[in-house]
Amino acid sequence: MIRVENLTKYYGKRLAVDNISFNVEKGEIVGFLGPNAAGKTTTMRILTGFLAPTSGNAWIADHNILSHSLEARQNIGYLPEAIPLYTDMTVRTYLDFAARLRGMAKNRIKSRIDEVVDICHLEEYIDVLIGKLSKGFRQRVGVAQAIIHEPKVLILDEPTIGIDPIQVAMTRQLIKELGKEHTILLSPHILPEVSVICQRVIIIHEGKIVAMDSIKNLSSLISGSKRIHLEVTGPAQKVAERLRRIEGVLRVSYDDSHYTVECSATQDPRSKIMEAIVQGGWTLLSLESVEMSLEDIFLKLTAEEEKSQ
Ligand SMILES: Nc1ncnc2c1ncn2[C@@H]1O[C@H](COP(=O)(O)OP(=O)(O)OP(=O)(O)O)[C@@H](O)[C@H]1O
Ligand SMILES: [Mg+2]
Repeated sequence: MIRVENLTKYYGKRLAVDNISFNVEKGEIVGFLGPNAAGKTTTMRILTGFLAPTSGNAWIADHNILSHSLEARQNIGYLPEAIPLYTDMTVRTYLDFAARLRGMAKNRIKSRIDEVVDICHLEEYIDVLIGKLSKGFRQRVGVAQAIIHEPKVLILDEPTIGIDPIQVAMTRQLIKELGKEHTILLSPHILPEVSVICQRVIIIHEGKIVAMDSIKNLSSLISGSKRIHLEVTGPAQKVAERLRRIEGVLRVSYDDSHYTVECSATQDPRSKIMEAIVQGGWTLLSLESVEMSLEDIFLKLTAEEEKSQ
């Protein structure tokens, strides 16, 4: 549904996107992540036709973004990083404006506005001036304008930036819902939301793709280790020392009675851990295996990239 081939973008001499290629299949929700200045917004602006690439090419729903830019744009909805909302328009007039801008048939606009207002839960605010809406609701208006023309593909640049946790949860839910009908490329502002929303991630760093896989695969691919969280009552230093002696345990850290045990991915020392704690005369309150968090993966990948340069 989205195909990107050898896309490169220079701003003057600054290389912002460096020969990247990737695909997003129909129905996928893919996280496009990377640190600040990685090239996320630049890539998204190219895909949505706001910026011309220096070289390379891309297709949206099989329409080439350069040679068939109008068709490509008709198939894409875009929530930009900074939404150009008109604060002196009501939600309704703004959506009407956005629909006309997208060339929608006049007789379809009114009913479609009702639909998107329903999807984005904006019913109460439809006749309120955008300038009077809270950030979270403005963000939803941004999503509403992105889907107004029923595009197949959605590109959302940091859809939850600057909004409170309750609104974040609602936006997450909205994106998940949208994912049932749309193919979505999403640049998430906070990493935990990626593992909740996305099936796959593409990680970009200094304009290059450094990883592309499911979160699960990425975590086992790069870590070569897994983690176990424990809660143990007992003298922390002694407990940690004992845990470190167990075969397969690579590292142990602790904070009060909570321990993180890193062990080699090929071994499962859980029963040995339990034995050791019982033998020490301590009490095991909980034990769980945890996958590496996306933050861990992310930091590790970008650090490895820097080392290899
Ligand atoms: N209009 C522009 N003119 C010149 N350089 C630009 C322009 N827009 C972006 N850049 C540069 O291109 C690089 C990539 O920027 P981009 O905005 O794509 O990053 P990003 O991954 O979206 O970062 P962020 O997480 O901060 O939004 C940066 O070094 C940035 O300074
Ligand atoms: Mg950006």
